[in-house]
Amino acid sequence: MLRIGLLTSGGDCQALNAAMRGVIKGLSAKRDDLEIYGFQDGYKGLIYGNFHLMTPNDFSGILTRGGTILGTSRQPFKKMRIPDENGLDKVEAMKSTYHKLKLDCLVILGGNGTHKSANMLREEGLNVVTLPKTIDNDLWGTDMTFGFQSAVDIATDTIDRIHTTASSHSRVFIIEVMGHKVGHVTLHAGIAGGADVILIPEIPYDINVVTDVIKKRSEAGKTFTILAVAEGAISKEDAKLKKKQYKAKLAQRKYPSIAYELAAEIEEKMDKEVRVTVPGHTQRGGSPCAYDRVIATRVGAAASELILNKEYGYMIGIVNNETVKVPLSEVAGKLKMVDPKSRLVQEAKAIGISFGDK
Ligand code: F6P
Repeated sequence: MLRIGLLTSGGDCQALNAAMRGVIKGLSAKRDDLEIYGFQDGYKGLIYGNFHLMTPNDFSGILTRGGTILGTSRQPFKKMRIPDENGLDKVEAMKSTYHKLKLDCLVILGGNGTHKSANMLREEGLNVVTLPKTIDNDLWGTDMTFGFQSAVDIATDTIDRIHTTASSHSRVFIIEVMGHKVGHVTLHAGIAGGADVILIPEIPYDINVVTDVIKKRSEAGKTFTILAVAEGAISKEDAKLKKKQYKAKLAQRKYPSIAYELAAEIEEKMDKEVRVTVPGHTQRGGSPCAYDRVIATRVGAAASELILNKEYGYMIGIVNNETVKVPLSEVAGKLKMVDPKSRLVQEAKAIGISFGDK
């Protein structure tokens, strides 16, 4: 008997189902003695023993389906070792569920926080294999996470649509793009959508540089300007603040987000109408793009090979377009940020896209 536990944790994204399908198809092609336990809503299901026994058939027909058939939740790593409201030790509870079910391996699909917890479970002696999901693409050890490209496509589509209305009204438009603390989605969607300005957390911006771009475009007869702004974008002044000071400043911000703050600043400094568009969670919704379906299937299949070989403690990543196994101990706790010196950023600058830095 081969007993597998599956869970999806953290914010959902496209191709989670495609990845699980890849794992189960790979395993069931080689073994007909599979017992599959699907944990409901991420680590919560493992903590509280909330699972259902599944069959390979449950993973048929889900390649194109968005979201996750298992449900998900955020269980912050910081709180994993803090007992719940009834005094339950969550880590011991997860170990107990794992041992009670006599699992051979847990397959965990998640992003950064999820990987810290997965590595902790590995250190606690559980067999774990993980898959890299997140629209943010900020997971260390892999060039690509599934969900990223689909999110880029959606954000790009938003920027595309904004072009016509921005041009008709001669307005400045700010499109706020998801990405948490990093700017990968904004950078790619900004380039793909032909944004004039791209602001990302990795390159703090100067508001005067941004207004200068708008001014110069107006002088050149271009009446509208499109800014792709990461939700985590930060000004040069704010980047100088200590983490605590910045957090306190954010808590007092009178605007819902950086995009609205920036819009107000631009309107104050210039005679321009500024509008903000926030595609928000649409960037995580719906069917995965073809590329995400392919990489999710590949990492799923590669994970099934690891499990069949009894090789545990790895994340399957995509490096140079190949699947690779990366030790979980190396992945956990590291953020993959945009490198401001990368060729991608330099090439974007070469065609005149401003990052608000100079
Ligand atoms: O990590 C994925 C992500 O969509 C981030 O880009 C975003 O900051 C965050 O999740 C939003 O989280 P929630 O769905 O909990 O609001």
